[in-house]
Amino acid sequence: MPKLQHLLDNNKKWAEKIKSSDPDFFNKLAKQQNPEYLWIGCSDSRVPANEIVGLMPGEIFVHRNIANIVVHTDLNCLSVIQYAVEVLRVKHIIVCGHYGCGGIRAALDNQDHGIIDNWLRHIKDVHRLYKTQIDALETMKEKTDLLCELNVVEQMANVCQTTMVQNAWKNNQELTIHGWIYGIENGIMKDLNVRISGQVGENGLPSSS
Ligand code: CO
Repeated sequence: MPKLQHLLDNNKKWAEKIKSSDPDFFNKLAKQQNPEYLWIGCSDSRVPANEIVGLMPGEIFVHRNIANIVVHTDLNCLSVIQYAVEVLRVKHIIVCGHYGCGGIRAALDNQDHGIIDNWLRHIKDVHRLYKTQIDALETMKEKTDLLCELNVVEQMANVCQTTMVQNAWKNNQELTIHGWIYGIENGIMKDLNVRISGQVGENGLPSSS
């Protein structure tokens, strides 16, 4: 059985490189993590959270799944949000989508992809919400990219509606939700300029800026 020795070798070199610039780095990290950010992003191998925003181990708490979806009954994602908000007390939650997302594209075609189609239902729901706008576009690329953006906004709303985030705002905890989208083709992150922070309004929805 292949042992993936090259990866283990890479790891040794990586750890040595970090220790050579900061000998105490791993000792400090072993004692605690204190990240300011929670990242909710796609599992896509081309969108590695730490690397594309230049953060070191310990600086960002990460949850990834196919097409960066936040489902109200997904215990995995909810547990991550709870730990990040209530224990780590992160100040920012970044929902990061990316253009050309295979999950989003698969949700737009009408083919059978197997079990994943059940997960993609959540994206099909977003499509249904914006059907007129999306279906008016000509190419599959345009449709996919718009749905990638709209999916980020919808998943941000889902983050806001979790009890943990609602409670954090009720308790005046500093917490802002950000919506970003990453371009695989150029490596550039775009801020969708939808930020939601703070108090729950009278209508039960958070105020946005
Ligand atoms: Co993706």
